[in-house]
Amino acid sequence: MEQGFTKLCAMSALKEGVGASFEVDLHNIAVFLVEGMVYAVSNVCPHQHIPLISEGNLENHVVTCPMHGWQYDIKTGKGVHGAGSIKSYETCIEDATLYVKIEEAQNQDLW
Ligand code: FES
Repeated sequence: MEQGFTKLCAMSALKEGVGASFEVDLHNIAVFLVEGMVYAVSNVCPHQHIPLISEGNLENHVVTCPMHGWQYDIKTGKGVHGAGSIKSYETCIEDATLYVKIEEAQNQDLW
């Protein structure tokens, strides 16, 4: 595996369509399993810096922050509704274990 990936969890710990959150090296990461694909983005909403993205409602790859409704595309972290975007992390699955790339997160300038 490439350098920079950190183990997050067993794939069996993830449930289809339900977010999960993890803390790794000061990164608070929200993970979503959708149709067999895993997406990892920042768990922290840039609106009021509240770490609840993993608990947001998910529909068509768009997660809605449960606090005030800002929305993000979990494939890219880009904002769909609201004034911000969130970091997107590269993921890798090996031996039924999920890894996420911490060092070179995309959208590094964003939350
Ligand atoms: S904290 Fe997420 S929309 Fe306000």
